[in-house]
Amino acid sequence: MSSNRVIIFDTTLRDGEQSPGASMNLDEKLKIAIALDEMGVDVIEAGFPIASNGDFEAVRTIAGRVRNAAVAGLSRANAKDIDRAAEALKGAVRPRIHTFISTSPLHMKYKLQMEPEAVLQHVIDSVSHARNLCDDVEWSAEDGSRTDADFLARCVEAAIRAGARTVNIPDTVGYTIPEEYADLIRMLMNRVPNIDQAVISVHCHNDLGLAVANSLAAVAAGARQIECTINGLGERAGNCSLEEVVMALRTRPDRMPYTTGVKTEHITKLSRLVSTVTGFPVQPNKAIVGANAFAHESGIHQDGVLKHAATYEIMTPESVGLPPRSNIVLGKLSGRHAFKQRLKELGVELGDNALNDAFKRFKDLADRKRQIYDEDLLALVEDTVGRANDTVQFVRMRVTCGSEGPQEAVLTLDVDGTPRSVTAQGNGPVDAAFNGVRAIVPHEARLQLYQVHAVTEGTDAQAEVTVRLEEDGKTVNGQGADPDTIVASVRAYVHALNKLLVKRQRTAPEAMTA
Ligand code: KIV
Ligand code: ZN
Repeated sequence: MSSNRVIIFDTTLRDGEQSPGASMNLDEKLKIAIALDEMGVDVIEAGFPIASNGDFEAVRTIAGRVRNAAVAGLSRANAKDIDRAAEALKGAVRPRIHTFISTSPLHMKYKLQMEPEAVLQHVIDSVSHARNLCDDVEWSAEDGSRTDADFLARCVEAAIRAGARTVNIPDTVGYTIPEEYADLIRMLMNRVPNIDQAVISVHCHNDLGLAVANSLAAVAAGARQIECTINGLGERAGNCSLEEVVMALRTRPDRMPYTTGVKTEHITKLSRLVSTVTGFPVQPNKAIVGANAFAHESGIHQDGVLKHAATYEIMTPESVGLPPRSNIVLGKLSGRHAFKQRLKELGVELGDNALNDAFKRFKDLADRKRQIYDEDLLALVEDTVGRANDTVQFVRMRVTCGSEGPQEAVLTLDVDGTPRSVTAQGNGPVDAAFNGVRAIVPHEARLQLYQVHAVTEGTDAQAEVTVRLEEDGKTVNGQGADPDTIVASVRAYVHALNKLLVKRQRTAPEAMTA
């Protein structure tokens, strides 16, 4: 590999899934892993195998299916975790064990309650143990950016001597700033005698909005692996965003002469896939993948772009996989072929069953809405795909609302194949409808978020609703779309409820502070 090639390590399925509310089932994780592999990332961190049987199965399945990228499994610095990761990675073409321990004074004293010398011994023991099971071992110094420089250099040297091929220096709490982080990486490059035997990696959290800037500064200082996630998903404010860091490198080779193996034309598809699966909408002004990232509102800008795109566009929409602007607006006469073709142009490719389900929803929508825009298609696909096997399904609903109460919902849901109906009242139609859901599927989950936005302009626009539920510390997001806001709300609620039912079956990960 050339000395200017930067390894892209994607951790959407591990750190990304640690976002409060983001949960993915095995099929969804596999789909994302395959798409990441096709996009050309170098390493896919598929999960934390010791955390739960679900995580173990996800890593095992992904390891068996991914052909090009290395597949990593995370483990703490103990033999049990490492053995479990090795077991899950058995079927991988290129397995990687990623083991970590905290090295900062704060974490060692309060979290680990260990002396530095004991931590150093754990570094040596855990990396040696992992190397006996796997050739490719990565070691991470959790809270590395707040670690004493001398101690960090000793740990890095010891990890490399014990066999680590990649040494990762996370900014776990998103505290560092570009210059400081670059100095830290440069210090390691200069001081650690065996540093040429390992790749230095960076893993930045975005608490101060600096994750991308910090990662790029570290690359300029000698790091050659960036850990990142699609849409910047991750703990708290998230991780370094893959699409931003990769497009920054692609767009500014004059100042950053580094390459990656990412086929950037896949970015939009991956972003939408992750957003659909997690139920986390992408903010419109998000760099690279936000709906407005290539939209020009002001007349002066529009005029400039029409004369020469480069006047206001520093990268082309095609370079991130956006479809050419379409003159085709789908409507009720559009056939399955046109529907499938437009979805493909939008980066959405569905299997036959999913396509049939989505097409049926499209026809229903086209009966009620004259013009169907790209945003409508994406919203209805999000609301349909992957839900056919859900335990609870929305069937129908009629609501009575207005100023002359009582507001009432007559709701039918299908639960495990059996239709159940109820009439419920509430303080407004949404409250009545949600009370109906609770009457049919009794549960104690708390509604943490209820959010509505119009997918397009006009009073016949679809409403896209996000619902967040919390139960025993577990949070899930659900999304629903429909021109009827109350129907969209119930769809979103039912989506979240189904995710909660899946989550209940998973054991709680213990002390996951990665
Ligand atoms: O943020 C962090 O320190 C991590 C490590 C496990 C790499 O996620
Ligand atoms: Zn992290």
